[in-house]
Amino acid sequence: MNICVYKDAEAIGTAAAALFAACVTQNPRCVLGLATGSSPLPTYQKMAEMYRAGAVDFSGVTTYNLDEYVGIDHTHAQSYYCFMMENLFRHINVKQENIHVPSGVAPDLEKECADYEAAIEAAGGIDLQILGIGRNGHIAFNEPSDSFPPATHTVELTESTINANKRFFASADDVPRRAVTTGIGTIMKARAIVLVATGADKAEAVRAMAKGPVTPRCPASILQFHPRATILLDEAAASLL
Ligand code: GLP
Repeated sequence: MNICVYKDAEAIGTAAAALFAACVTQNPRCVLGLATGSSPLPTYQKMAEMYRAGAVDFSGVTTYNLDEYVGIDHTHAQSYYCFMMENLFRHINVKQENIHVPSGVAPDLEKECADYEAAIEAAGGIDLQILGIGRNGHIAFNEPSDSFPPATHTVELTESTINANKRFFASADDVPRRAVTTGIGTIMKARAIVLVATGADKAEAVRAMAKGPVTPRCPASILQFHPRATILLDEAAASLL
């Protein structure tokens, strides 16, 4: 993995957005893998700025998001679909029909997972995937476990993740307990990956990811085996490396 340390979240956002701009410029019909959470927000702001400046045209791009909560639909304010609309999609010219976020309310969630995985493959696979990292080393909603999930699946969220994400909900009790998430296999098939992390509370997860053993107990550690994984950190997140 290629690790770069920047002075702050804004500088990380500029660097990550430049990778997206390069991807879209090289192939205007590329497939982008997108993430939620606060870590990618500066990247999305910079992507929107580049679009407004006429530097990047997203009209041919297809997007697939990593995950969605089970039990809340895409009109729910805390859904990851709404998050993406609010923070990226409504600020750029990606076509509505090219946007994909898994459904957490599909009547048959197993089928939804299989269909989502197949749709990514049919689109030609993901060219560039952005990731954040959870405090317990999760990526997307792949929580620490005994094996690396190969494909899109449903998961039970850990207390650590529920606690970290409760800030977006009225209370911890309102945070959904389950999610649909792309698998570690899905993520590792992306041709290039950029992971962004800031702040001291991510330092231990970043250390385990980059310097610890490759193990499903720290799902992000698998990125050590990705040939094109770029890790963008601020000094606090990099402090244990
Ligand atoms: C959620 C998301 C992850 C994200 C993580 C960290 O659990 N499913 O994709 O990486 O939160 O979020 P943040 O960037 O807000 O710390």
